[in-house]
Amino acid sequence: MDTVYFNGKFLPREQVLVSPDDRGFLFGDSVYEVVRWYGGYFFDMEGHLNRLRRSLGEVRIDWPEADSFPEIASELVHLNDLGDGCTLIYLQVTRGTAPRAHAFPDPPVPPTTYAFARRQSIDTLTAERGISVDLTEDPRWSRCDIKATALLANILAYQNAHEAGHAEVCFVRDDLITEAAHSNIFFVKNDTVYTHPESTRILSGITRRNVITIASENGIPLIEEALPAGMLPYIHEAFLTNTSGEIVPVVKIGNQPVADGRPGEVTRKLQRLFREKVSALRDLG
Ligand code: PDD
Repeated sequence: MDTVYFNGKFLPREQVLVSPDDRGFLFGDSVYEVVRWYGGYFFDMEGHLNRLRRSLGEVRIDWPEADSFPEIASELVHLNDLGDGCTLIYLQVTRGTAPRAHAFPDPPVPPTTYAFARRQSIDTLTAERGISVDLTEDPRWSRCDIKATALLANILAYQNAHEAGHAEVCFVRDDLITEAAHSNIFFVKNDTVYTHPESTRILSGITRRNVITIASENGIPLIEEALPAGMLPYIHEAFLTNTSGEIVPVVKIGNQPVADGRPGEVTRKLQRLFREKVSALRDLG
């Protein structure tokens, strides 16, 4: 039986009781964060903690213990005996429990907090071979920069892509490629890497930020500029980034192979540099 974190306590998952009037349940009035434990240390916990604080601030949920996320995450890893391997830690904070009404509870109620750890390794086969992604109009709201749990638009688009045999779906808004259902997307054209700039149209991915830093540290030209969907036939490489997969090559978009349909050299180089960065953190720790 695994141990989870719920409202300040560590307890068996079966003992968690969430009210049906919780605003996370009723409205999706809630934010979340996902961080990876690499068998001994977290990857960029500071980046994840800053994004959690930002998401909470943008939706005006007051969780005074937000700064304890690193300790909660460590405790979950250890209580569940997951210290040795690769693990994802999920944390969710809702606006709390109150009779259903659109207005925030007044007076405010304590937020509901829930976190769990789950063993999840990097899928090395996928990282090696690459994936096919679907392409669709971005069906989401206009605040994609907030890591909100209200993911219905992402889920519906992802499920359509999944049923059509793709491993992810990538979104187009005003003819520009924004990001994917649960990852950021990058393109390579003539050895220069392109990705959508930070804005309300994408989530500022922690993996994305680290890839940008790695590119700049290693002299790989990278421009934070959105790719028009019409340019897709002319790109040489594409890849996705997120906490669960690190860097995943994209070899097909819709029905069209990306270049020769094989992961490209710049993608491979960034994958290698990213792995080196992860290992260097272990050596530091
Ligand atoms: N998803 N864009 C979206 C819409 C995402 O949901 C995610 C992460 C990312 C990548 O962010 P990061 O590099 O910080 O993981 C981009 C997580 C993994 C999830 O929902 O499970």
